[in-house]
Amino acid sequence: MKTLEDNQHRRIDYLRISITDRCNLRCRYCMPEHGIPLLSHNQILTYEEIIKIVKIFVNNGIKKIRITGGEPLVRKNIENLIAKISSIEGVKDLGLTTNGVLLKELSKKIYDAGLNRINISLDSLHPGVFESITRRPYFYKVWDGIMEAIKTGFDPIKINVVVIRGVNDTEIPNFLRLAMDFPLVVRFIEYMPIGENNDWSYEKVMPVKEIKNIIENYVRLEPLQPNEYGGPAQRFAIYPSKGEIGFISPVSEHFCDRCNRLRLTADGKIRTCLFSDDEIDLKPALKDETPEKSLLNLLKQALQRKPPHHNIVPFMIKKCQRFMNSVGG
Ligand code: 5AD
Ligand code: SF4
Repeated sequence: MKTLEDNQHRRIDYLRISITDRCNLRCRYCMPEHGIPLLSHNQILTYEEIIKIVKIFVNNGIKKIRITGGEPLVRKNIENLIAKISSIEGVKDLGLTTNGVLLKELSKKIYDAGLNRINISLDSLHPGVFESITRRPYFYKVWDGIMEAIKTGFDPIKINVVVIRGVNDTEIPNFLRLAMDFPLVVRFIEYMPIGENNDWSYEKVMPVKEIKNIIENYVRLEPLQPNEYGGPAQRFAIYPSKGEIGFISPVSEHFCDRCNRLRLTADGKIRTCLFSDDEIDLKPALKDETPEKSLLNLLKQALQRKPPHHNIVPFMIKKCQRFMNSVGG
């Protein structure tokens, strides 16, 4: 079994693939109201190209894949891509991150195609606040999508909540309730400085410590072991209930030394870190006579160039240039 290591001796086995920069929401922290200049169809990797890349990467040590966007469910026939990726030998885990708007219609289709896990972004349980964050009145679509995902049988289903002070921090107890009442893993995420146009400021970041304190007013948190593909979340069982919650602290306590991931953008560039604008273009290599060799070389370059850590600290912010929708979280 081949493995990949970067320049810091981190084992790299996780690839996040953004399959589109388009989205049916306009979350304030991600995109401006009028959207952004979108990639044209011929800039976007085709499913065949994505599969070619995935096969080579998986042959060389990538084991876990996540499909992201923009909003991945807006791309046509996504079930075909899922079916192809899930049947590649060596793909041990295939996940998808969605905003849930189209999930009610597509849940069963993507499950049957071989998707194992699903993460759904939801920052408010109030339809009005949801609309003010996402600039779209789709709360109930997302809610129905979550209920449909439960019915379909996805396990686990994770709900990602970006906590923004002054916007949704008063809803932390409601999200706790959600994890107690439904088979959902609710994960609170610190608000990150991504994209040029978001209204990020350090004051709006709610550090995980503070979120945890609020939750501990209501329940006892019992630490859980990180599971094999657990990612950067600190996991907790909540008593008295069967629920589970998680905390992701990219700002207050970075987890870069455990980072195991690379990202592929919708237009075929490898990004070595969410917070770095360093990109390696795979598209020219796809046209080579022996793309296997050239792609492997570029993959190795990416591993050499992966930065040891990001530099988000209070009052010294370098925002990265791409909007979140083209990097995929
Ligand atoms: N800070 C934290 N999380 C973010 N996401 C998008 N932008 C930010 C940000 N600035 C999250 C989305 C989704 C995932 C893809 O990334 O809410 O859960
Ligand atoms: Fe769309 Fe996700 Fe960006 Fe919201 S955060 S606008 S759902 S890509």
